[in-house]
Amino acid sequence: MGNLDLQLHEFTKLKSGVKRLTLTDFRNYKSLRLNTDIAPIIITGENGSGKTNILEAVSFLTPGRGLRGCRLADIKRIRTLEDDDTPTSTSWSVAADILKNDEEYTIGTALQSSEREDGESDDEARTYTYDRRIVKINQQKITQQAELGKYISAIWVTPQMDRLFLGGTQPRRSFLDRLVYAFDLEHAKRLANFEHLYRQWYMLIKSGNYDARWLKSIEADMASLGVAIAAARREQIARLNTFIEQEPDDIFPDVRLELDGTIEKMLDAKSALHVEDYYVENLAKQRNNVLYNDSVDGVNRTDFKVYFQKKGMPADLCSTGEQKALLISIILAQTKCQILNKGFAPILLLDEVTTHLDDKKRDALLDKIRNLNLQAWITSTEPQNFNLLRGEAQFFELADGRVF
Ligand SMILES: Nc1ncnc2c1ncn2[C@@H]1O[C@H](COP(=O)(O)OP(=O)(O)O)[C@@H](O)[C@H]1O
Ligand SMILES: [Mg+2]
Repeated sequence: MGNLDLQLHEFTKLKSGVKRLTLTDFRNYKSLRLNTDIAPIIITGENGSGKTNILEAVSFLTPGRGLRGCRLADIKRIRTLEDDDTPTSTSWSVAADILKNDEEYTIGTALQSSEREDGESDDEARTYTYDRRIVKINQQKITQQAELGKYISAIWVTPQMDRLFLGGTQPRRSFLDRLVYAFDLEHAKRLANFEHLYRQWYMLIKSGNYDARWLKSIEADMASLGVAIAAARREQIARLNTFIEQEPDDIFPDVRLELDGTIEKMLDAKSALHVEDYYVENLAKQRNNVLYNDSVDGVNRTDFKVYFQKKGMPADLCSTGEQKALLISIILAQTKCQILNKGFAPILLLDEVTTHLDDKKRDALLDKIRNLNLQAWITSTEPQNFNLLRGEAQFFELADGRVF
């Protein structure tokens, strides 16, 4: 056992994860209750049997919009033609008893819709529904979702990520930012604030009707947030690269991660203050881009590149199976870094993760998960893929929205 493995082993003697999960009117589940072990949890069933929905529910125990990143209202159970049990609730909820290093907590979260009125005068008034997610820790309502990150953390791999290295930059950027805010709980808030300012800035320029000083002050705020965002991304990428260098893997390919963004790159050579000044000027210069519907450069456009280190091959030119293995390498490094840095194990949510992996890699992954002593929720249509874990993992078979 290497030095690092020993350290990891020390940390994971204490258990973290979900002990009991209760879903109410959540997607296809009217109500579902699962008692779970801190171990690999294998969920099998045909297409559409509700596997991903369970992982999505667990992801709602962490900050954000869950592993599908969808509208909160879409999750509420709707009636299907096959069942005549019309949902009466206007909400959905997820409740869980969790362990964080052997200490017990409860987490509850639910959709809360409220009606709001818009418009200045009565004639113009329109009511619209405003959806948000309320969160309780030990029955106490919390105002900042980021607070959840102190008790529980989850890392997920979904089938959509099979194309992570191929498609547009947006999913890659979200993936990157999720890696960051597992370590830096403020990162999500900074991103949300940046996005809010960006929209305001954009609308003001489009309207052509603004106070120049006001626009300047928005640009200054965007630049200062933007530099903080870029710095946090750099720190996380450096942390992962260092970790991977120190811990070469025998089966999963070593990756090299690189940020591809003007602001991030500039921070290689220049001080944060200098880059911030540049950013302010550059935003002012790009006001015309908004008018001509051209893209605006900055942290909103950052991308990241992944290389198969030994081959020196960019991930987008690797085979489908290699790309999956590279993704898993990143996830495993992130998981281990997180255990060592935060002092408690994240939950892994691995949706159809064995797709595209050869038998050797599949079993190696299961073995690594087993050795990490954490809770991993793994879905598959093929129960026989998990023979390695018989006797150690918890197996759930889904059919007709029920668990066997
Ligand atoms: N809001 C909803 N209400 C009721 N059923 C839903 C809702 N959203 C999705 N579903 C259904 O849940 C079923 C299970 O989905 P999913 O968990 O993704 O299946 P899989 O087992 O293939 O991962 C699907 O048939 C889907 O149509
Ligand atoms: Mg699925």
